[in-house]
Amino acid sequence: ATTSAGGGAGPEQGHARAGGVRDGSGTPLGAERLAEIGLRFEVDGEIATVSLDRPERRNAQTFATWSALARIGRTLPDQVRVVVVRGEGPSFSAGIDLRMFTPEGVPGEGSFATVAGLPDEEADRRIAEAQEGFLWLRRPDIVSVAAVQGHAIGAGFQLALACDLRVLADDASFRMKEPALGLVPDLTGTKPLVELVGVARAVEICLTARAVGAEEALRLGLAHAVVPRDELSAATAELAGALLATDRAAATATKRLLQEAPGRTLAEQCAAERAAQAVRIRALAGGGAAGPAA
Ligand code: ACO
Repeated sequence: ATTSAGGGAGPEQGHARAGGVRDGSGTPLGAERLAEIGLRFEVDGEIATVSLDRPERRNAQTFATWSALARIGRTLPDQVRVVVVRGEGPSFSAGIDLRMFTPEGVPGEGSFATVAGLPDEEADRRIAEAQEGFLWLRRPDIVSVAAVQGHAIGAGFQLALACDLRVLADDASFRMKEPALGLVPDLTGTKPLVELVGVARAVEICLTARAVGAEEALRLGLAHAVVPRDELSAATAELAGALLATDRAAATATKRLLQEAPGRTLAEQCAAERAAQAVRIRALAGGGAAGPAA
């Protein structure tokens, strides 16, 4: 059954509190509020879909977008194993809403001038809150897939980078435009970019602020697959389904191992594999939650 935060059903339906969040911000946002922010959230079994839904502004993002994404992450239903992030319309996302650069800013959210006037600690907190909207997509217990068509610029590129996998339409292009606008990429994108393409190529991509087309993205490892534009939804759905083929606990432990591998020596990683496997073997022997995948 599909539960939707974008439909007529109560926004609380289909949502389970995840991660033990107890404060008010652990309550799911309603469909209406999400729509005002330009987002939709839908759950179909073990697959959740987050849609950027402000195509008339090419899915430009604001502080409200990021705090709503963070809230979606905090309140993700427990059954969700795969999260698809996509954008309505011709482009995945044109990045930050350029009204942030104007003195008037985004209605109800202020502008960069507002942030500039904040004390250091408060400015740090605001940016950390924005980053929270991206960080949860790396959680070991889920796999996130960005489905990217058209432009993914700045914050749009970083949102795609926050996901574990990127499926691109053949018209997709990535562009890290922040340095061209006097900013740094600060929405968690620099680390995955470097991990995927290396420091030298990341420097070149960021400091030229050039567009990286779909075929080049595939060659560089920035894309998992490139498909014809009209096949993007089907290819993403197929991948999402395929990611459900494994035992959940084993998948979570495996993703954690893979994520932590770059920071460990071989000996440390071998020890981590042994520790994780001991847990799996005990779970299998106990006949509990885990069992061989069909
Ligand atoms: N913020 C606010 N509005 C935007 C943004 C944005 N980032 N991008 C596009 N829009 C609006 C346009 O102003 C236009 O509005 P209008 O119809 O009222 O005139 C509408 O979306 C459509 O934009 P077009 O430019 O006509 O769409 P097109 O498909 O031809 O081009 C593209 C898309 C390439 C994304 C272009 O809009 C663009 O370059 N946008 C700005 C990208 C940018 O500089 N982003 C900031 C990156 S840095 C960061 O994210 C931190």
